[in-house]
This record gives sequence, C-alpha cells and structure tokens, in this order.
Amino acid sequence: MEVIIVEQPGDVAVHAADAIEDLATSHPAPVLGLATGSTPRATYEETGRRIAAGRMTLARARAFMLDEYVGLPPHHPQSYRSVIDAIFTTKVDIDPANVAGPDGNASDVLAACAAYERAIAEAGGIDLQILGIGGDGHIAFNEPGSSLASATRIKTLIRATRQDNARFFEGVLDAVPSHCLTQGVATILRARHIVLLALGEPKAEAVRHAVEGPVSAMCPASALQLHPHVTVILDEGAASRLEMAAYYREVWENKPPWQRL
Ligand code: PGA
Repeated sequence: MEVIIVEQPGDVAVHAADAIEDLATSHPAPVLGLATGSTPRATYEETGRRIAAGRMTLARARAFMLDEYVGLPPHHPQSYRSVIDAIFTTKVDIDPANVAGPDGNASDVLAACAAYERAIAEAGGIDLQILGIGGDGHIAFNEPGSSLASATRIKTLIRATRQDNARFFEGVLDAVPSHCLTQGVATILRARHIVLLALGEPKAEAVRHAVEGPVSAMCPASALQLHPHVTVILDEGAASRLEMAAYYREVWENKPPWQRL
C-alpha cells in the first residue's frame, strides 16, 4: 500500500483528483468506481474544476457506484443514485446514462446483484475505485464480519449505521431503509487501482486497522492489504494512529518522478 499523509484536508482531494486525471488523460474510455459519503465530495468537485478548466474529460467514461438502499425510489433525495448525481454526475461531464448502481428496486434483488457483477465485468472491470472507510472499518456496506470473498449482495444494515444515517431522513430511524445492495469485498478488490480516502481523527483507528492489520473480516478495509495497487490518502487526523507514519512520509517525499500514484 502507498500511504500519502497530507497537511491540509483539502489536499486529500487534490491527490485523489490527480489519480482520476491521470486515468482520464491516459485511457480512452475509463471506468470509475464511485463512493458516496461526505469524504469524496471535495474530490468530485476538484475533478469538475479540472474538467471546466479543459485539463481532462470524463465524456467517454463509465462509472459504477458501490451500493444502494433497497426500496427507496431512485429519485428519493437520499437514494445513493440521487446523492451521486448531486455530488458527482452534475459536477463533471460524464453522460448520466453511463453512471450505474445496483438496482435496489428490483423485484428479484438476487438477480439484480448478479446482473450488477456482470455489468461491471462487461465494462471491462473498474480501472480506479474511489473508496471511503467507516469508523468501524467498513467499505461500501460491508460491515465488520463481512466475508472478504463476498460479491454484490443484499445486506441488513446494522443499527449503528441506520442511526448514523437517520440524520439524512429527518432524524427518523424508521425512515432509513433496513437493507441495501452492496458490492462485496471481493468485487471491490477486482478494481485495478483503489484510492482510499479518510479525513479526521474519528477515522484514525479504522485506518490503522486497515493499513497496518491484521487482515480480518472484523475490519473489511484491511482486505485492501491483499490488493497490489492501493493508494491511501489521509489527513493528519486520519493518520494519527499509524505506527509507520514517519516511514510513509519519507517514502512519499522521496518518490521518484517516474512513479505515478
Ligand atoms: P463518509 O462515509 O465519507 O461520510 O465518512 C464513509 C463510509 O462510511 O464509507
């Protein structure tokens, strides 16, 4: 894993947007993996600014979301599709028809999960996956205890996550869907490059487990250690519990110019 620790939280977005720009300018039709949540917002905004400045385009890109609630109408403001449209699709020049997510309204959700895995494979797989991490080490909706070999599937949301997300549903816990469809840990690991972003001290313990191990289903993000190309971009708070922080800084500061993210 390559670990980049930045002084200013805003620089997390700059480095993550660099990875997107590198891909977009070197690949004729890149495939992006999109995380929802608050962490990647600034990255998507920075990407939009670079597109507006003529540095890059996502006009020929495709994108796949990590997860979606079950049973929320697609236009519900809290469906992950609506959130992605608000924080990503409308900020960049991608064709909205080329942004896909698991179908949380399918009558046969198991078939929808299999279809989603197929759609990612048929697109050629994900070139660059933008990823956040939960305070408990989850990635997408793979909560602690998730199989590290899991594929896209239906999951019951744990109470703590529903309580966390109730703020987006006017504080009403019962309004938060009880189930979701989520890419599995193994689905995420099939992306060719994974960029994990974390901001703030509340993520520090999860980041320590994810980066410095041990690999365990109790911290699904620790499975990223098994992937050959992961870039972890952290602010000082999120990096504050890393034992090897000084070493990661030294590696990054001495990075040879030919080595890209
Ligand atoms: P956040 O969520 O970006 O809103 O912190 C990350 C996650 O829970 O995966």
